[in-house]
Amino acid sequence: MGLLHLHFLFLFLSFSSGEISSFVGVNYGELGNNLPSPKQSVGLVQSLGAKCVKIYGANPDILDAFKDTNIQVSIMVPNELIINISNSQKLADSWVESNVVPFFSKTKIRYLLVGNEVVSSSPKQIWPRIIPAMRKIKSSLKTHSLNKIKVSTSMAMDVLESSFPPSNGTFRSDIADPVVKPLLQFLTRTKSFYFLDVYPYFPWAADPKSISLDYALFESRNVTYTDPVSSLTYTNLFDQMVDSVVFAMKRLGYPDIRIFIAETGWPNAGDIDQIGANVYNAATYNRNVVKKLTAKPAIGTPARPGWVIPSLVFALYNENQKPGPGTERHFGLLYPNGSYVYGIDLSGKTPDSGFEPLPKPGNNEPYKGKIWCMAVGGANATALSSALSYACSQGNKTCDPIQPGKPCFKPDSLFWHASYAFSSYWSQFKKSGATCYFNGLATQTAKDPSFGHCKFPSVTL
Ligand SMILES: *[C@@H]1O[C@H](CO)[C@@H](O)[C@H](O)[C@H]1NC(C)=O
Ligand SMILES: *[C@@H]1O[C@H](CO)[C@@H](O)[C@H](O)[C@H]1NC(C)=O
Ligand SMILES: *[C@@H]1O[C@H](CO)[C@@H](O)[C@H](O)[C@H]1NC(C)=O
Ligand SMILES: *[C@@H]1O[C@H](CO)[C@@H](O)[C@H](O)[C@H]1NC(C)=O
Ligand SMILES: *[C@@H]1O[C@H](CO)[C@@H](O)[C@H](O)[C@H]1NC(C)=O
Ligand SMILES: *[C@@H]1O[C@H](CO)[C@@H](O)[C@H](O)[C@H]1NC(C)=O
Repeated sequence: MGLLHLHFLFLFLSFSSGEISSFVGVNYGELGNNLPSPKQSVGLVQSLGAKCVKIYGANPDILDAFKDTNIQVSIMVPNELIINISNSQKLADSWVESNVVPFFSKTKIRYLLVGNEVVSSSPKQIWPRIIPAMRKIKSSLKTHSLNKIKVSTSMAMDVLESSFPPSNGTFRSDIADPVVKPLLQFLTRTKSFYFLDVYPYFPWAADPKSISLDYALFESRNVTYTDPVSSLTYTNLFDQMVDSVVFAMKRLGYPDIRIFIAETGWPNAGDIDQIGANVYNAATYNRNVVKKLTAKPAIGTPARPGWVIPSLVFALYNENQKPGPGTERHFGLLYPNGSYVYGIDLSGKTPDSGFEPLPKPGNNEPYKGKIWCMAVGGANATALSSALSYACSQGNKTCDPIQPGKPCFKPDSLFWHASYAFSSYWSQFKKSGATCYFNGLATQTAKDPSFGHCKFPSVTL
């Protein structure tokens, strides 16, 4: 009897974990003008030990390059197509026929996301159309017997109105009924996953005084947080964030939907005014997240001990054409030339002692001092002069000193005039959200570019 019981237990365990195993894969973003080809990328993805790759679309060259490999692939319906697909089964069918059918099964397409962080990044009208579009895509897949492909959509943490304490996790009231409930219903019915983008870097960087860096990097030995309502004790910020989503789903009546980490990671560099973006922290975070998520038996989170959490690190490459602050262009495990930014093994098989020592972090404290915003050397002259005009047209004498006869007119060069204009514009408008980026034409510097009687305005931190 005892033996029989054990046997049953064993069978049950092997069934429940059999369907999905722990793995860590990588997000293959393509927003760079200097990235390796899809064919070269396959070799790099394999060398990283990734079991799964997620792309932001359905680039046929990438889908073709991954054929006959063991790597699972996640593809995506772009946000822009959601409304039309939600209105037309025919369009859903044709999307699946041109983007999935020709590549399956040689390419192991296993996940299909309808939209990327739609609620965070696309107009409101699209939000309630996500689930209808997912249903139509699912139905098209069914027609082709592509039942192995799980359909979902990805969500960032900002779909929650409360995430602290984790037991208080609550979806935003404006989306709970029209978007989240139908989503959770769909995921339950189709046994799919809630795809979650989770970056402890951002809450830590926004409040490094209250949150310990070690806690954000899974390095905390003495800092823990006990949720006063659930009494669960947390040793890292990642678990806290994931569990806030678990509790939010539970609150809506869906306690069992599995979570798939669609993106997580830490920037290896950033702008001068961005704290903690460095190789040391990025390597530490990503190595620790891999260790946690590939552990056998699975660790799970405090609210879901032992649960398997399939995951994807962001990102394969540093992508030089991503807009926004510098960190956005520095989430890569690899440089665009294919070399590693730091040692990393997504299979979790390499112990930390198997990696080269890391450079000491230089920016774990907030930067204090002045920063200027300069044109980058070798920038496209046409684009630079329109950026100069834009900066100068934003009023309040931004560009007076570079007019003829004024102290910053000489040297009369596009580079120096643009640099003055960028610094002046940024120092005036940073408070209202202006950035020192200008589509990659500008960069921050801590070195005062002023000369003679020409004083460049600066931002002071
Ligand atoms: C959606 O459909 C409308 C009407 O047919 C069309 O004008 C529009 O270009 C389509 N949008 C996209 C992104 O394909
Ligand atoms: C719990 O979440 C609600 C919003 O959903 C918020 O108003 C409240 O302050 C949160 N409680 C705590 C203790 O943070
Ligand atoms: C935790 O340990 C670190 C390093 O040993 C120390 O600097 C820090 O003050 C400790 N924090 C607490 C809350 O004890
Ligand atoms: C690749 O690029 C990085 C960053 O620019 C550089 O440090 C490294 O030396 C390059 N490696 C090779 C092999 O060119
Ligand atoms: C320079 O920028 C202009 C306008 O932004 C663009 O049309 C042109 O193609 C660019 N030239 C090069 C060489 O990238
Ligand atoms: C220009 O400066 C004035 C006075 O400092 C201020 O009230 C106004 O909002 C500024 N205009 C712009 C476009 O920032």
